[in-house]
Amino acid sequence: MTKELDLMIPNEIKNGLGTKILGCEVISFIQTSSTNDVAMELANKGAREGLLIVAENQIKGRGRRERSWLCPMGTGILASLILRPQIEIKKADILTLLTAVSVAKAIHNLTNLHAFIKWPNDIIINNKKVSGILAEMRSDSNKIDFVIIGIGINVNIHKSQMPKEIEEIATSLSIELGNDVSRIALLQEVLRLLEDRYLRLKDGNFEEFIDEWRSLLNTIGQNVEVNLHGKVFSGHVLDVDENGALIVELSNGSIQRVFNVDDESSHISIVRRS
Ligand code: BTN
Repeated sequence: MTKELDLMIPNEIKNGLGTKILGCEVISFIQTSSTNDVAMELANKGAREGLLIVAENQIKGRGRRERSWLCPMGTGILASLILRPQIEIKKADILTLLTAVSVAKAIHNLTNLHAFIKWPNDIIINNKKVSGILAEMRSDSNKIDFVIIGIGINVNIHKSQMPKEIEEIATSLSIELGNDVSRIALLQEVLRLLEDRYLRLKDGNFEEFIDEWRSLLNTIGQNVEVNLHGKVFSGHVLDVDENGALIVELSNGSIQRVFNVDDESSHISIVRRS
């Protein structure tokens, strides 16, 4: 059976979307370096808030902590949004959390699959990663100029197509469901859920968003290894605080907060229970 061509065509993404800002303008590529790079370049030139860049394939797809993001041509959502939020710089991390919540809920709404969030913003189904978010910001000392929200979702990657480098740790919606999912319908749902939260964020109530994010986190209660600037401690995650930092009880009984830093010097890994 030949596979129906399901391209991420701008007019189809905008058709019936119903948002006021996000995705009202869409630029699509069959292939580009990285949608985040394109969005960054356009934002630097003054592109409007809500502009969405999508691609069928990325040659230099980037993940957090300088990793690459691999997704075969035409099988995933590879999207970047330009936001120009009027919030304090130190609160910018909340945008990544809002996006993670929106992606997890959109997946559930469309597929009924239970997607969780692995701190701080990996989307997980059955212990494997299905989606990741890469937020990049330009600001001066006291004001955000723009934030690029890059979203990668493994939608219709079939088992045989999963890149060898990630097959142990990654999954896709089609692998979990046994059938393909409309990438356009899923992207539209992500945009609607994210816009709803983004508009409410402008009212300044961050607590409700942290609560919603916390309710989807699968990291609370887990045993973890905390790598703090090269020193490794084991501990148990008690909770997250009002800024999204992990509260970890280390094996010596002390309490350690772990912040969301995007470098190798501080991170956590979940210790698998055997
Ligand atoms: C991660 O989990 O490490 C973040 C992955 C983010 C991947 C997306 S795909 C679209 C956008 N363009 C990129 O180069 N990266 C993000």
